[in-house]
Amino acid sequence: MPPRDTRTVKDYIRTIVDFPHEGILFRDVTTLFADARGFRMAVDQLLTPYAGERISKVVGLEARGFILGGAVAHQLSVGFVPIRKKGKLPGAVVSEAYALEYGEAVMELHDDALAPGERVLIVDDLLATGGTAAAAIKLCERLGAEIVGCAFVIDLPELGGRKLLEGLGHDVHALTE
Ligand code: PRP
Ligand code: ADE
Repeated sequence: MPPRDTRTVKDYIRTIVDFPHEGILFRDVTTLFADARGFRMAVDQLLTPYAGERISKVVGLEARGFILGGAVAHQLSVGFVPIRKKGKLPGAVVSEAYALEYGEAVMELHDDALAPGERVLIVDDLLATGGTAAAAIKLCERLGAEIVGCAFVIDLPELGGRKLLEGLGHDVHALTE
């Protein structure tokens, strides 16, 4: 019998030093997505705490949150809604500016993408300062949606994102630090 595969989600993630700037340790999830077992484990584990919860939409954050969020939405048999960087969505949008670990940006959501009372799971690959996710939460809430939780593959705890989101009263779920 071949030895049992004991790799965890973390084992599939590689680190690229000094990308996109010197001093940044970039946690690269393309190696996780490229592996069938790793990708399946990540999608399943993102959903573990929400078993039995009513979720009506999955909201994914550009860009890697689209890959995970699409798979999570498919698994739940619910719709997927993208939150994108400024200027990418074709319809009327609501916008929020936010600060990044390395820069600044604006996130947008179609203003008719969520109905009031909709129960949303926010999905992204990585939580760093929490600026992106906090902007996403604000956008969803501006349309009257309720945030069931925010699910990430990676949390970088030293950057404070979890504290920020939990301080705003939101549930944070991450598969690895
Ligand atoms: C990364 C990551 C998160 C965000 C986290 O995306 O995928 O969306 O940064 O950082 P924060 O918690 O400090 O806000 P990035 O902005 O690099 O965009 P990309 O996925 O389009 O490359
Ligand atoms: N987004 C923000 N910080 C990041 C990091 N260290 N690795 C990958 N994506 C990121």
